Amino acid sequence: MEFVHKSVLLDETINGLNIKPDGTYVDGTAGGGGHSFHIASRLNSEGRLIAIDQDPDAIAAATERLKQFDNVTIIRSNFSNIKGVLMSLGICGVDGVLLDIGVSSWQLDSPERGFSYHYDAPLDMRMSREGTSAYDIVNSCEPGELVRILSIYGEEKFAKNIVRSIVKARDVKPIETTLELADIIRDAYPMKARQKGHPARKTFQALRIAVNGELDRLKEGLVNAFDVLNPDGRLAVITFHSLEDRIVKKQMADWCVGCTCPSDFPICVCGNKPKAELVTRKPIEPSEDELLDNNRARSAKLRICQRRTTSA
Ligand SMILES: C[S@@+](CC[C@H](N)C(=O)[O-])C[C@H]1O[C@@H](n2cnc3c(N)ncnc32)[C@H](O)[C@@H]1O
Repeated sequence: MEFVHKSVLLDETINGLNIKPDGTYVDGTAGGGGHSFHIASRLNSEGRLIAIDQDPDAIAAATERLKQFDNVTIIRSNFSNIKGVLMSLGICGVDGVLLDIGVSSWQLDSPERGFSYHYDAPLDMRMSREGTSAYDIVNSCEPGELVRILSIYGEEKFAKNIVRSIVKARDVKPIETTLELADIIRDAYPMKARQKGHPARKTFQALRIAVNGELDRLKEGLVNAFDVLNPDGRLAVITFHSLEDRIVKKQMADWCVGCTCPSDFPICVCGNKPKAELVTRKPIEPSEDELLDNNRARSAKLRICQRRTTSA
């Protein structure tokens, strides 16, 4: 299957990174190489791009897409390991990092990856194709832990009903496929709530986040990416749901906090200085034109911050 993925907020992201032609950049989520291609196109022979993805299929697609560039290095890794990747390449600091979080359209639309409730496939959902799968979680997790996963990562109101039905079904035989699970969820869903989108949507989102440890990797990835930024370097992050966006918003806001002395102190005694400034006060969202062309961009939010020259 051909790797098809429309890069989201492409111009906004590339412009927001403020690319220096001789700078060093990291695309932590290379996917099909869409954003990477446009970053690499703005570099001269002194510039460099490191394109990272944890999915071996994405690495193959990005390698093909970016093959015309001599100054692009493609590495299979988790972006949370950005420091290790850069150290292995002898790079101490970079001028920009992009994280375009989540799954690609290609991953969603490849039935055998098990991300989608539209196709019947083994319950998998592993971006890296390694480690714990959705099958393991659905069939082995304690009921209380499953409720927690569905409630927190899926914000699923009917988590308890769904988990009760999952446990009943798996007591008879393991739940093996996406459609088996989607049917169990649908049957567990109150009739009235079935009209509001597919009943399996939130559970599938929750399982995907749990399988890939997405929120923890995002938190680690943000901190590690910021640490490797050169002064004035930029970090651009595209998220697709509120759980991720909240993490990015809070982390960027924390970097921008300066003095933390009580407001009635006549002078600053804490000496804290902001480490970053926001490039985007409010998140950038897709234009109507982009949404007409790519409905999957509908929940995308882009936030960018810049490391301050004087940061500690
Ligand atoms: C939305 S797609 C990126 C698409 C890409 N920007 C483009 O324009 O083609 C997200 C990609 O990030 C990868 N990914 C998600 N989380 C990751 C992580 N923690 N580390 C490395 N890659 C990750 C996925 O495997 C997927 O290929």
